[in-house]
Amino acid sequence: MNPIKKCIINKDTKNKPIWLMRQAGRYLPEFREIRKVNQNFIKLCLNTNLSSQITLQPIKRFGFDGAVIFSDILMVPYALGQKVEFKKNFGPQLGELNLDAIKNTNEVYFSNKLNPVYEAISLTASSELLKNRDVIGFVGAPWTILVYMINKTSPKKGLSDNFFKDKLLIKELLYVIEKFLKIHIKNQIEAGASIIQIFDSWAGLLENEIEQYIYTPTLNIVEYVKKLGVPVICFPRGIKDYKNFCETVKPDMVNIDYNVDPKKIINEIKIPIQGGLDPKILLTDKDNLRKEVERYLTIFKDHPYVFNLGHGILPETKIDLVEELISIVRNFR
Ligand code: CP3
Repeated sequence: MNPIKKCIINKDTKNKPIWLMRQAGRYLPEFREIRKVNQNFIKLCLNTNLSSQITLQPIKRFGFDGAVIFSDILMVPYALGQKVEFKKNFGPQLGELNLDAIKNTNEVYFSNKLNPVYEAISLTASSELLKNRDVIGFVGAPWTILVYMINKTSPKKGLSDNFFKDKLLIKELLYVIEKFLKIHIKNQIEAGASIIQIFDSWAGLLENEIEQYIYTPTLNIVEYVKKLGVPVICFPRGIKDYKNFCETVKPDMVNIDYNVDPKKIINEIKIPIQGGLDPKILLTDKDNLRKEVERYLTIFKDHPYVFNLGHGILPETKIDLVEELISIVRNFR
């Protein structure tokens, strides 16, 4: 295992590191250039050289404090044998779910299928550019992966009525997902990931049974990552009670979404906090950006805080506003 370098979760409150969710992506012209000639998104994620190159693009351009590996949370269903496609202007589309085939997935076969991702992590971690920066590995939380595998597309309009119909399927699937997420995490850490972020993008869809579908499986993953000696960040997007989530799941840091009131949360959560700014603010202007960014920085002045957004950066974001954002964060006193 790689020795852990500087950690972005900074306990000293003076310094506010910055990286952005989805920083390696479509708002960058140099990414769009590569994407244009690589129509198959999964194949692109499995191209070690290009994936590493894309991961480093925002580091070269902006000097962010962490590099999030260019991959996708849906690489796990893909490696479990479920078809995954990314359609233009639609998002992900998953294929038929075959529980028996998934249950019988061989661990070595799974790891081999994702080996180009792990090689991309090693290659990226060895870059001179990342000498003092974290390589952020990630997984989708069990609940969010379950949602995609059953729903097959992004549940933008909520879950269908029959989502929970087959309780046995859900129980068995959740068990397999958790097992393979752990394998995927271990492989990423062995390849050089120095932090793991768990994206629970659809945590906000659940009204009931949060314990069963979110707390318990996420806690299992968090404890597993901690046992491997690597810090873990949770992003339970849209969850109603961040305080209860943190007290139950105990991540090393929590990423808040843009609906969370920073003034309220700072009195409720003792652990380091990341993120919050609405990515839409980056579509406005420099004055408004400064106002909003300084609001977060002022509120979190005496709290361990990593600057980030309340969801992924939008593809329409202009480069000069990202530059301005970094300058505001770095020069704030
Ligand atoms: O900088 C990075 O964060 C790069 C790595 C990364 C991607 N996806 C690349 C990507 C990460 C960490 C993700 C996480 C991810 N993927 C999440 C969790 C975060 C979130 O946004 O809630 C989810 C839900 C997915 C699933 C997914 N992948 C969706 C819904 C989509 C299509 C819609 C969209 O926002 O683009 C993707 C495609 C995807 N993943 C792209 C990228 C750069 C765009 C691909 C393209 O069309 O070029």
